[in-house]
Amino acid sequence: MCGIVAYIGRRQALPILIEGLKRLEYRGYDSAGAGTLSGPGLQVVKCIGRVAALEEAIERKGGLEGSVGIAHTRWATHGGVTDFNAHPHRDDAKQGHGIAIIHNGIIENYAALKTWLLEKGHVFESETDTEVLAHLIGELYEGDLEKAVQSALREVTGAYAIAAMCAKEPDVLVVARKGSPLMVGVGNGEYVVASDASAIVSHTTQAFTLADYTVARLTRESFRTTTVDNLPITAEVRELEIDLQEIELGGYDHFMLKEIHEQPRALRTSLKGRIDLRIGDVKLGGVGDIARQLARARRVVFVGQGTALHACMVGTYLMEELAKIPSDFDFASEFRYRNPIVEEGTVVVAVSQSGETADTLAALQEAKSRGATALGIVNVVGSSISRETDAGVYLRVGPEIGVASTKAFTGQVMVAAMLATFIGRRRFLSPDMVGHLLREMEAIPEKIERVLALNDHIRTATAKYIERENWLFLGRGVNYPVALEGALKLKEISYIHAEGMPAAEMKHGPIALIDSGMPVVFVATKNSQYEKVLSNIAEVRSRGGHVIAVATEGDEHIRTVAEDVFYVPDVTEMLQPLVTVVPLQLLAYHAAVMRGKDVDKPRNLAKSVTVE
Ligand code: M6R
Repeated sequence: MCGIVAYIGRRQALPILIEGLKRLEYRGYDSAGAGTLSGPGLQVVKCIGRVAALEEAIERKGGLEGSVGIAHTRWATHGGVTDFNAHPHRDDAKQGHGIAIIHNGIIENYAALKTWLLEKGHVFESETDTEVLAHLIGELYEGDLEKAVQSALREVTGAYAIAAMCAKEPDVLVVARKGSPLMVGVGNGEYVVASDASAIVSHTTQAFTLADYTVARLTRESFRTTTVDNLPITAEVRELEIDLQEIELGGYDHFMLKEIHEQPRALRTSLKGRIDLRIGDVKLGGVGDIARQLARARRVVFVGQGTALHACMVGTYLMEELAKIPSDFDFASEFRYRNPIVEEGTVVVAVSQSGETADTLAALQEAKSRGATALGIVNVVGSSISRETDAGVYLRVGPEIGVASTKAFTGQVMVAAMLATFIGRRRFLSPDMVGHLLREMEAIPEKIERVLALNDHIRTATAKYIERENWLFLGRGVNYPVALEGALKLKEISYIHAEGMPAAEMKHGPIALIDSGMPVVFVATKNSQYEKVLSNIAEVRSRGGHVIAVATEGDEHIRTVAEDVFYVPDVTEMLQPLVTVVPLQLLAYHAAVMRGKDVDKPRNLAKSVTVE
């Protein structure tokens, strides 16, 4: 979603702001803007379109001078995609103080605040909630930007990460956060503020994350942090756990392709130090303190959205099979509002790559308030969800930049498998049973490498169906979520209509769609439901559908019933999603490239959905 970059230091701000915006492009946006302070002058340029369009607009205006600045990529929520609605927003043009702000999140009570400000004579240029906040800060300004921001934030409800500057205080940058991510990179005589570490790491690896309700006042020499009530608080400066190489393309055409290929290495990192084959056990430091509580759990509920929800679904199969605990999954967005019953002994597991998905965070908070133990399976260290949990396990798959989630999915499934094994070991799984599972887990990265070697074959097969506008993805059991994931990948980056469902469900309606124009992808690996899937394949074939199968190496029969086969190595049933999803990720990738789509930045999508 929206991206924030801000700078105060001794260098020209603009190149740093633009570089930061480019690093944040992956989050998804529809307009961009930047502003700088040059002496007492405030300059702002903003426009719809990409950061490249902003650069051109700035050049046309003769540049933006100054060593204090703010910049933003906007993903429209309140108000359409227009130049006026883009950020930065200023306080009142006529009676203002030369204040400009950028903002991520939503000010929920903006309408009431706007009415109040209109009565006071403010004139607004945009339809946004952010401009209301800018005017509110201006209205409360009495010569001290930090105090005005604190006062304004005490009046607002909703979520925000903001950066503000004021022409009357040209050596000050004020930033604040509640509910939307924001970090401050601490350099030598300079600070780089951003909504995620990727825009900071090329300047400094020292940074602190702002806690909710925190305001930071930055000058070139120092910084201080306070609550919105002006109580001092300490910010902990840490080393960023992110490497510049991880956020660059490194020879790949797209981040998605890079991240698909990173999966073997990412999973090895995720497993490292966590599985112990000698004693047949899993070591998960993040949940060690509540191991007994987890072993006594009566119910586990996984919550997430999108791809993370599909990992949640796999998680329920794993938890029931390996830990024998009744398990369920739910869209976080549904769970949070459906007055969920949380009985004693319920563990709620929030699954999220970004750790910032608004609905997932809210579902976790709802579950906690009802007495659940809150766990997280999260990638981004220090993210909002990870901070909200009682305990959790990080994915350790490295930053995911492509909007289409790939390595995060396999990371989430692997962590769910480790978690289920960890709990199962503390209930009834013997060291031998665990040892067998751990050997299977350890072998997964090498097996994925074998699937990646099929890349050219998958591209050729995809080309045969590239004109088709409707696809079905079918699977059973633990591969049913993989079918959903295959369909989601295809639709979100190639804009081809695709549906995933349990293979047996097809007969209850969707079969009416099948004719000679319809590619149907089956996840048809050797497992307890293989024969059933073969029957479903026969049903599609007899109606003229084109069958594409993901099958187990050595299965010659499948060639006689499928037009195209993507073979994956044999894997124990519960871990099959870790390999079966990979050909579907590649299929979606090639389809999007062949259709000329913007693979890493699909239209209308944002990398992390921080509004509900
Ligand atoms: O950051 P999260 O894992 O919480 O994000 C959840 C979904 O928004 C995300 O998986 C989304 O569905 C992706 N675009 C899927 O590729």
